Amino acid sequence: MMPKKNKFYVTTPIYYINDQAHIGHAYSTIAADVLARYYRQQNRKVLFTTGTDENSQKTLEAAKTAKLNTKEYSDKTAKKWQNLWDQLNISYDRFIRTTEPAHIKAVQTLIQKIYDKGDIYKGIYEGLYCFRCEAFYREDDLIDGKCPFHKIRPEFIKEENYFFKLSKYQDDLLNYIKNNPHFILPEARHNEVVAFIERGLDDISISRANQKWGVPLPFDKSQVTYVWFDALINYLTVADYPDKKYSQWWPADVHIIGKDIIRFHCVIWPAMLISAGIELPKTIFAHGFFTVDGEKISKSLGNAIDPIELTKKYGNDALRYYLLREFPFGTDGDFSHERFKIVYETELGDNLGNLVQRLVIMLEKYNERGYSYIQPKNRKILQNIKEQDHNEQFLKSLEFSNALQTIFKWIDHLNIELANEEPWKLIKQDKVRAIKFLNEVVSGILDINEYLKPFLPETAEKILKTFKNGKVNTKIGILFPKIDNAD
Ligand code: MSP
Repeated sequence: MMPKKNKFYVTTPIYYINDQAHIGHAYSTIAADVLARYYRQQNRKVLFTTGTDENSQKTLEAAKTAKLNTKEYSDKTAKKWQNLWDQLNISYDRFIRTTEPAHIKAVQTLIQKIYDKGDIYKGIYEGLYCFRCEAFYREDDLIDGKCPFHKIRPEFIKEENYFFKLSKYQDDLLNYIKNNPHFILPEARHNEVVAFIERGLDDISISRANQKWGVPLPFDKSQVTYVWFDALINYLTVADYPDKKYSQWWPADVHIIGKDIIRFHCVIWPAMLISAGIELPKTIFAHGFFTVDGEKISKSLGNAIDPIELTKKYGNDALRYYLLREFPFGTDGDFSHERFKIVYETELGDNLGNLVQRLVIMLEKYNERGYSYIQPKNRKILQNIKEQDHNEQFLKSLEFSNALQTIFKWIDHLNIELANEEPWKLIKQDKVRAIKFLNEVVSGILDINEYLKPFLPETAEKILKTFKNGKVNTKIGILFPKIDNAD
C-alpha cells in the first residue's frame, strides 16, 4: 500500500449538467488543477477528480426541453463537460458521473450504514424547497421571502420522506470545526459555518417521494436519494469506496468548492461521514464568487462567459493566470474583459513573452543559437531563488495570487537586469561577458519555469522547448501574441 503521506487527493464540485459552463465553474477546476500539477511535480501520488452531478430534478426538466430521454440527455451533456475540461487542459485523473453503477453502489452502501446506525428515520417533510439550488430552506434563510441565490420564491412541498439526524451531530461538528482551524478555509467561511451551526441544526430530508430519476434508497426503493446526499458521496466513489482500498486515498486533502455550497460540504457532508464512522476530509476551501463587468452571472442577462470563447482568443494559460493572479483565492471578484486584455498584454505579453523573445533573438544573433546553463551558485542572477521561495507555503495555503506574484517578481528582476546590462551594446565591447550574461538570464528563466509549470503548463512546455539542452529553438514562436479586436 502506498504510504499515505505521499498522496494528495483533490476534488472539484461535480457540476450540474443542465448548466452552461462559465468562468465560475472553470475557476474551481483550474485551482484544483494547479494543486494537482504542483503535487505531482513534488513526486506525490495525486488523485484529482471532477465530474457531473446528474441525478437532479433539473436534469429531467432539461431533458424534456431538449426532447431527449433523460439518459440520452445525461450522456450527451456529461460528455460536453468532460470535453470542456480536456479543451482547457485540465489534468483530472478521474471524471465521475453520478449515474455510474460504481457511484450508485457507493451511495447505497453509505446510506445503508447510516440507516443501520439508527440515524435515518421516516417523517413528513413540510416546508420550502428551491429546485434551482436543490436545497431545503427555512424562512429565516430567505431574503424577502426569496432564495438568496436565485431570488425566486422556493416552493412549498409536503411529502413523506426519510430524514437524517443532522441535529444529533451538532456538538460533534462544532467541536471538530473549532479544534481544526484548517478544516474550513478561508477563515471567514469557518466563522460563517460556526455561526450557522450555533443557530441550531434541524434534521434534514434525504429522500424524495414521487420521483423516478435518482438513486433508489437501499431500504425503500420507492424513494430516491436527495440529490445532495447522493452527490457528496462522489468524493468516496472515486476512491473506490466501498472497496477497502478507498483508504489509500481517503481522506481527501482538499475539497475545492464555491462559497454558495459550504453548508452542504461543511455541515451535511462531515455529519454523514461521522455517522458512517469515516474520517473527515482534511480541508474544505471555499472560493469566492465572480460577477462579470459588475453584474451577477445569470442566464437571463446572458453574461455567462464561456471559458472556451476566451481561451480560443487568449489561450488556456492566460485564463488560468488572470483568474488566479487577479483575485486572491477565497474572495469575490469582478471579471472584467478590459482588465483581462490588459493583464494578457502587459504581465504575460510584455513581462514574460517579450523576455523570452528577446533572448531568443539575441542568442540566435550573437551565439548562433546556443547557450550554456549556469548553476545558481555560479551566477549573479537569481542566485538565491530557493531562499526567496515562499512559493511552497503559498501553495499549501492556496494563495495562488501570492505565488504568482512571487514568480513574476523574479521575471521582473530578469527584465531589470537585462535593461541595466544592455547586452545588445555590451556585445560590441566584450562578447564573452555579454554571452555569459545572456546565459545567466536563460538559466534564470529555466529555473523560474519550474515554478511556472503548475500555473501555466502550456507556456512552460514552450519555454522548455525553446531552450532545450543548450540549443535555442527559434521555431516555437511568440508566447503571447498580440490579439486584434479583443474586446
Ligand atoms: N452540483 C453542485 C455541486 C455538488 S458537489 C458534491 C453544484 N453545481 S454547480 O454546477 O451549480 O456549481 C458548481 C460550482 O461552481 C460551485 O462551487 C459554485 O460555487 C461554482 N460557481 C457557480 N457560479 C459561480 C460564480 N459566479 N463565481 C464563482 N464560482 C461559481 O453546485
